[in-house]
Amino acid sequence: MARKILVTGGTGYIGSHTVVKLQESGFDVIIVDNLSNSSIEVLDNIEKITGIKPEFEQFDLADKEKTDSFFSRNSDIEAIIHFAASKAVGESVEKPLLYYRNNLVSMMNVLECQIKYDVPNIVFSSSCTVYGQPDVLPVTEQTPRKDAESPYGNTKRVNEDILSDTAAANSKLKTIALRYFNPVGAHKSALIGELPLGIPNNLVPFITQTAAGLRDELKVFGDNYNTPDGSAIRDYIHVVDLAKAHVVAINRLLSNKNKSNYEIFNLGTGNGYSVLEMVKGFEKVSGVKLNYKIVDRRAGDIEKIWADTTFANEELGWKAEKGLEDMLLSSWNWEKHLRKIE
Ligand code: UD1
Repeated sequence: MARKILVTGGTGYIGSHTVVKLQESGFDVIIVDNLSNSSIEVLDNIEKITGIKPEFEQFDLADKEKTDSFFSRNSDIEAIIHFAASKAVGESVEKPLLYYRNNLVSMMNVLECQIKYDVPNIVFSSSCTVYGQPDVLPVTEQTPRKDAESPYGNTKRVNEDILSDTAAANSKLKTIALRYFNPVGAHKSALIGELPLGIPNNLVPFITQTAAGLRDELKVFGDNYNTPDGSAIRDYIHVVDLAKAHVVAINRLLSNKNKSNYEIFNLGTGNGYSVLEMVKGFEKVSGVKLNYKIVDRRAGDIEKIWADTTFANEELGWKAEKGLEDMLLSSWNWEKHLRKIE
């Protein structure tokens, strides 16, 4: 019997790619998602890629009764990957309570059910946002966290604390928090990818939508940072590399290879690229000239960050394999597939 993994938020961007990798590694997957920021068709597209339609239940994990009922009916779940969360930074500033409710209450409901129904293993989606603008680069897992710039960022930080406090009090619980740098790219089939609702906040979907003609121009937020070309630097990582890291983390927990019952790993490539390098890189791989203009910095943005990946590489035996070309080309292929561009 295949081992069963619950993937919350499994129809979302990183979730759907992770479901594919879990199925390809022989796991059974059950998805819980409220479809607030994803589409039911993702299930069919996962099936087109892997030949297996994942089990699915639609409800909100912030609803305690529904969450409890789900766990009481699914006693064969051995591990959880908890992606389900709201993630728009700007919206979180406007609607902080919505973000705290969605992201914190759902996390607590899942943890309470883990303890009640004896599901020991959980992998949590954290973010490099917990580091703020670090004083020293690259950032290791020991780099001190800083105050969050937004309620969204704060939910990542507080959820890490909730998980580590709960792990400290429950020796049977085993938790891995994965701090993602900037996930981009899409599955090579172009059947799944990032589906931003409305105007994208993130750089790469904005680039591909501009190239596809949905947006008039890309705004480059700031060219007066203390970086070689003046634009801000991030560590972009291919979503398929990220998905593979989740399978590694699940195998680590299921085979009791974890060294403590609360572990943290940075997931990046270790390479930083500037916004202007991303623009030029995109033009090169797509052959499309981007209409862009330099504007003021975006409030709350940091100047530069990239990961020290040594710990993840050595301890997990995982390394990001895909480079910038693949990230940008797969994002473009996904956008073209969505917009039916030849
Ligand atoms: C953002 C969030 C971060 C979150 C991550 C999720 C902020 C401040 N941070 O990271 O908390 O975990 O998304 O994916 O929102 N850029 C442009 N023009 C654009 C869009 C972006 O120049 O139209 C620049 C940004 O200024 C930044 C870089 O591109 O320098 C990357 O931006 P983005 O993709 O939004 O990611 P982060 O801001 O790093």
